[in-house]
Amino acid sequence: MHVVLSIGGSSIIPDGLPDLAFLRSLANLIKKSKLSFGILCGGGTVARLYANAARELGAGEYEADSIAIRSTRQNAALLLAALKSAGIDVHGRVIDDFEFAKEPARVNKVVVMGGTIPGITTDTDSVLLAEAIGAERLVNVSNVDAIYTADPKKNPNAKKYVKMGYEELIALASQSDKRMAGTNFVFDLLACKLIARSKIETHFVSFKRMDDLEAAIEGKKHSGTVVC
Ligand code: UTP
Repeated sequence: MHVVLSIGGSSIIPDGLPDLAFLRSLANLIKKSKLSFGILCGGGTVARLYANAARELGAGEYEADSIAIRSTRQNAALLLAALKSAGIDVHGRVIDDFEFAKEPARVNKVVVMGGTIPGITTDTDSVLLAEAIGAERLVNVSNVDAIYTADPKKNPNAKKYVKMGYEELIALASQSDKRMAGTNFVFDLLACKLIARSKIETHFVSFKRMDDLEAAIEGKKHSGTVVC
């Protein structure tokens, strides 16, 4: 069985510096598990830095996205290095094409991807990868520990969802989808719609809680949110 992990750039390079302890712990979790994995790496601060610099130099949005995609692939290459040195059976290159991912996902324990085309996010890429390789479960790993009724930083009365339905998630994501950088909900609206159409069980956990991440990978109870 395949599980797709969507690893936010904020988990890989939390303060602009690669978090080697996290990358090593993630590699250990994957090594321990009997499951197969598709992993999609996000860009985080480095992607934003480069995209904004490109915009200031006069680049358009397509170009800014293309540059940001390179950052996601660079993060993916870093994770690939951690997986290789842990002795995991991983496809040897960062994959940039869902169609191509199918065969390595069948023969290797792990395949790793970054972003694909301008205009979308690695949330959406992760769901497309899950659809392409037939993953039944997706785990979103970010600096947000769960889905809340409102932004908990702005609203002290916000309540955590332990479990919620696809339509509820779509409604929440729609409220904050302005198609603008910096206005991001924990999971992109298009990604929410795609998990709903394919009924992919999706878990939201924080990169700071390896116990939750391990439980989510195995489909067990954790302190984040499960959407199904
Ligand atoms: P991310 O999806 O990682 O966005 O891609 P993010 O908002 O930085 O998410 P975190 O912080 O990693 O969780 C970074 C940027 O790369 C471009 C977009 O500009 C996106 O904002 N991108 C990514 C694409 O254009 N296409 C893709 O397929 C992926």
